[in-house]
Amino acid sequence: MILTKKQTKALDYLEDNKTRDIIFGGGAGGGKSALGAYWILKNCFKYPGSRWLVGRSVGKVLKETTLITIFEIAAKQGLKADVHYKYNSQAGTIQVGESTILLKDLFAYPSDPNFDNLGSLEITGAFIDECNQITSKAKNVVKSRIRYKLGEFDLLPKLLGTCNPSKNWVYSEFFTPHSKGTLADTKQFIQSLATDNPHISPYYIENLKTMDANSQERLLYGNWAYDNDPATLIDMDSINDYFENTHVKAEGKKYITVDVARLGKDNTVLRLWHGWKVIHRESYGKTTVPETVDLTKKLAESASVPRSQICVDEDGVGGGVKDYLRCKGFVNNSAPIHKGGSKNKENYENLKSQCSFKIAKRIRNKELYEPCADADVRQTITEEMEQVKAKNVDKDSKLGLVSKDKMKEKLGRSPDEWDNIMMREYFELAKFQIRA
Ligand SMILES: Nc1ncnc2c1ncn2[C@@H]1O[C@H](COP(=O)(O)OP(=O)(O)O)[C@@H](O)[C@H]1O
Ligand SMILES: [Mg+2]
Repeated sequence: MILTKKQTKALDYLEDNKTRDIIFGGGAGGGKSALGAYWILKNCFKYPGSRWLVGRSVGKVLKETTLITIFEIAAKQGLKADVHYKYNSQAGTIQVGESTILLKDLFAYPSDPNFDNLGSLEITGAFIDECNQITSKAKNVVKSRIRYKLGEFDLLPKLLGTCNPSKNWVYSEFFTPHSKGTLADTKQFIQSLATDNPHISPYYIENLKTMDANSQERLLYGNWAYDNDPATLIDMDSINDYFENTHVKAEGKKYITVDVARLGKDNTVLRLWHGWKVIHRESYGKTTVPETVDLTKKLAESASVPRSQICVDEDGVGGGVKDYLRCKGFVNNSAPIHKGGSKNKENYENLKSQCSFKIAKRIRNKELYEPCADADVRQTITEEMEQVKAKNVDKDSKLGLVSKDKMKEKLGRSPDEWDNIMMREYFELAKFQIRA
């Protein structure tokens, strides 16, 4: 078997004495599983008595896909089952000469959140196929187990992960630093697409071309901006359009939304809206109540916005700002506001979910516009909008958002821009509010 150029490059990193983490992939059919299978089999023969983990998010999928590729690559190398290697399906192991491959299910099961079942494991190295499907914790636990006979073989602990484009730890830890040229020199990222793999059948690429646009962007062209999580409320095109919707004019009433920095929030963000267009935005680090009051008052006076058209997030210190200004307050976890009485009750978990779902729809409908000259701010807003997701999409329960903690885990910060933007919807709902 002759490796592709990209696979060869990856193998160089897998065998050097500097690199520890290698991420390979970023598209379908780029020879990801084949590379992993090749590296693991080679190691088994090169280091007799070594022990290698092959993992995937779900054990069943591992056996149906990655394992098949291992057999396929073994055959290409002239290796015969039960002669050169022995698969034990019960134990989930493959004995290759004196070495062992351990097949592991790395899904974060609620019954074992800390992966204690990997606790006593000692391995020489690891290959995680489609590692974008496992949590960063699972990855770190596997990494911590790479220690078996490293001294004897004079090896560095190495982890190979393969993946398709997706917005998670692989994106923030590898893809983004790689694009910016800031990836640590113990880490490498190699993008390999179907078009980099001369062994792929032309029908495979034809097939990819029949998929929906989002999947094509990701899997065929390796575009990391297009995450196909079905829970996402705002697609990438709509996010890009949000900054370019010049047809949305400044007209009608003006509003101010204020999201106040407090425990668990990094920034105070103010937006001035004219209808559905953002005509001004400012942000600060932590601000005191009097400071926030001053900032809001100044903005309101300069733009002639009455108090009833100002909304401040009321959780925590924002409550003080709201009381002082005597403007509208926004309580994230309060009950949704219902149009025209309980008959039309929409089933939202709380006010924040309701506003987020509704304004996400407006953004999909290209009804909002925020001209944004600052590339960093635009990036921040984009990243937050990508993480606005419905929770329990498969369940028939109330419409809710994935938790703020989950969002923070993905973003590495609090979604202060989104919290400010979604509050704009409050004024639309408040029009219909039935007062007791
Ligand atoms: N170096 C290679 N030599 C021969 N065939 C290869 C090689 N690399 C990949 N292939 C074949 O190309 C196809 C796609 O590779 P695979 O590893 O399954 O891609 P991915 O896991 O990235 O979707 C498979 O049929 C595989 O056997
Ligand atoms: Mg694969």
